Amino acid sequence: MGKIKKIILAYSGGLDTSVILFYLKEKYKAEVITYTANLGQGERLDSIKEKAKRTGASRAYVEDVREEFCNDYVFPALKAGALYEERYPLATALARPLITKGLVRVAKKEGAEAIAHGCTGKGNDQVRFELSAKALSPELIILAPVREWKLRSREEEVRYAQKNNIPVEITKEKPYSIDRNLWGVSIECGTLEDPWREPPPDAYQITSSPEDAPDKATYMEIEFRDGVPVKLNGRALPPHLLIEELNKRGGENGVGRIDMVENRLVGIKSREIYEAPAATILHAAHHELEKLNLDKDTLHFKTVISSRYAELVYNGLWLSPLRQALDSFVDETQKFISGRVRIRLYKGTCQVVGRESPYSLYEKRLATYTEEDIFDQKASKGFIEIWGLPLKTLARLRKSQKEER
Ligand code: ARG
Repeated sequence: MGKIKKIILAYSGGLDTSVILFYLKEKYKAEVITYTANLGQGERLDSIKEKAKRTGASRAYVEDVREEFCNDYVFPALKAGALYEERYPLATALARPLITKGLVRVAKKEGAEAIAHGCTGKGNDQVRFELSAKALSPELIILAPVREWKLRSREEEVRYAQKNNIPVEITKEKPYSIDRNLWGVSIECGTLEDPWREPPPDAYQITSSPEDAPDKATYMEIEFRDGVPVKLNGRALPPHLLIEELNKRGGENGVGRIDMVENRLVGIKSREIYEAPAATILHAAHHELEKLNLDKDTLHFKTVISSRYAELVYNGLWLSPLRQALDSFVDETQKFISGRVRIRLYKGTCQVVGRESPYSLYEKRLATYTEEDIFDQKASKGFIEIWGLPLKTLARLRKSQKEER
C-alpha cells in the first residue's frame, strides 16, 4: 500500500466521526477532508463545515442530494415494491450508495487515495459503503477505523476526545443508535436489544403513538404518474417535499412504526425499529394502483421481483447488474401505473379507501350483480368442466384403482 496522503471521510458531525477524523490524521499523518450529504436527516447542517474544520479537516463538503435521493434511489425502490423481509422500506440501505457516490466524486476531485467511513464490523452499512465504492472506483483504498481501533465504548471515545481536545458536545448519552433520512428512521441498541420488550416511547423520533393521535381520521389523495407520486391532494410537489409532508401527516397519526427482528447480511439477527410514515403510505398506495392496473400474471410475478430487489439493496448490491436489469423490468410494468389513490390515516393505521385510473383494468359491467351485467354466466359451465377435468379424472381413476387393489 502506497502512502496515503489524502482521505475523504463520510462525516455526520457526531461523536464517532469526529473522533475518526482526528484518529485518521494521527495514524496516517494525512490530510482529511469531510463529506456530508443532506438526505433530509432533519438536522441543521449549516454549522457542520465549521465544526469539521475545528476538528482538523482541511476542507469540508456538504451537499444537498435530496432530489437525487428521491428520484434515483427511493422511487426505483418504491416502484419495485422493495420491502426487506416484507416490512423494512430500506431507508438506511438506499442512502449508502448515494453517500458513497459523493465520497468517490470528492476523492477524484481532490486526488485522494482513500475514503473512510464510521461503520462497525457487525452491520450492513460497511458492506453497502464498500461494495458501492468498489463498483464505482476499484482503485480507492477504504478505511474503516471503528473495525480496528481499541475504543470499545462511547465512554472511551469521549475520554479519547477530551484527551485530544476534539470538540464534541457532551450530550447526555443517547440510549439508541439512530440513522435518519427522508425515507425513514432506523433505531437500534439500548433496551431494543431485548426483542421481548416493547419499545419505550422515547425510542420513536418522528411518529406519535397511535393512542395520542387525533380522534378524527385524516384523508388524503395521492396521484401517481408512471409509478411515481407527483401530487398530494391535487397539488404538485417536488419529491422530497411530498415525502416530508407525508412523514408529517403520517407521523401525527401514528402511522409507519415497524418493530422487527431482521436478518443482517453478516449472519446476526437484530431487533430494530423503524419509523417510515411516508414510505408506508406510498407503498400501500402504489401497490393498490398496481392491483387496479396490472394484469394478474404481471402483478403476481412482480412480488418475486420485489423481494429479490429488496435483498439486493439490503445486501449492498445496489450497483450490481442484476439490480439494473430488474429496474428495466419494473419500469416496463410501471407504464400504466398512473392514477389516484385515496388514503385514510387513523390511529396508526393507513387504509386505502379509493382508487381510480385512466388505465384501470377494472370493468364494472363484468363485476356487477345488477342488470348492467355483460358477463356470460353460461360460459362458466364449460370453463369449469375443462379446468376441473384433471382433478375429476384423478379422483375417478384413483377410486377404481383402489377398488382393484
Ligand atoms: N438495520 C438497518 C439496515 O441494515 C439500519 C441500520 C442502521 N441503523 C442504525 N440505527 N444506525 O439497513
